Amino acid sequence: MLLEGKVAIITGGAKGMGRGMAVRFAAEGCAVAIADIAMKEAEEAAAEIKKKGGKGLAIKCDVTNIKQVGETVDTVIKKFGKIDILVNNAGAIAAHTPIEDLTEEAWDKVLALNLKSDFLFCKFVVPYMKKQKSGKIINLSSIGAIQPPAHEIHYNTAKAGVIGFTTDLANALAPFNINVNCMLPGPIRTNFYDARVSAMTEEEQDAFFKRLGKKVPLGRVGTPEDMAGAALFLASGLSDYITGVALPVSGGLPLLPPPPPTT
Ligand SMILES: NC(=O)c1ccc[n+]([C@@H]2O[C@H](COP(=O)([O-])OP(=O)(O)OC[C@H]3O[C@@H](n4cnc5c(N)ncnc54)[C@H](O)[C@@H]3O)[C@@H](O)[C@H]2O)c1
Repeated sequence: MLLEGKVAIITGGAKGMGRGMAVRFAAEGCAVAIADIAMKEAEEAAAEIKKKGGKGLAIKCDVTNIKQVGETVDTVIKKFGKIDILVNNAGAIAAHTPIEDLTEEAWDKVLALNLKSDFLFCKFVVPYMKKQKSGKIINLSSIGAIQPPAHEIHYNTAKAGVIGFTTDLANALAPFNINVNCMLPGPIRTNFYDARVSAMTEEEQDAFFKRLGKKVPLGRVGTPEDMAGAALFLASGLSDYITGVALPVSGGLPLLPPPPPTT
């Protein structure tokens, strides 16, 4: 097992790709703390892990609230004794808004959830990783940071900030044997798209994701399992010599889909 005896915090692990990572990490022998505002789903994810013989813990935490983040880290240390892996995954898309109509409040809210939260969790977790002279930090950016699919400037700016945050921290923590990398997901079918598709029938949703998949070189949207596989690589010893990397997990984006074959 790739994560035998390890302890991870996964923010936003109640749903979507965070949940996929939580279940996958647990199957590889990792104790997983799920920090999320969606407690019902977080408890369900922890129960799924326990049912399969793993160690899962659901913690109610708003990742934008410094007090709750500090308390979450304390709880994990009390329960599991250490933190080997931190996945800063919680985040949400924002509405398409022309910059002149974007409010300061909306800007601050989106930056807090998609960027400041990474700072808050690292602030409390890094001292433990420094002391044990090991750790893996994985931050969730987006392919939108380098190829905006729509005018969501607050979201895309936050996700570009995640790349800068990752690069700086990777350099600063390299002497402590702590790897810091980020992933740039392309379109992944999760609750992330709820606001756009919830009014559609199941058939319409399938058609929406099929159309979206045609914009991707590999010809399909991704799954939480696609993200979990890449996250497992970055969380495990397989990536010990990799730090400061912004890894697209995006079916080939930002490449454009190839033209249809001519023969
Ligand atoms: N799905 C995609 O296509 C896609 C593409 C690029 C980047 N991303 C990024 O990947 C990450 C995961 O997205 P997803 O697709 O799994 O979305 P999702 O909506 O399925 O899951 C997000 C999780 O974050 C939690 N969350 C939201 N606000 C929170 C808060 N304030 N405190 C704690 N938890 C909170 C939600 O409850 C949920 O469990 C996000 O950072 C997102 O921006 C997703």
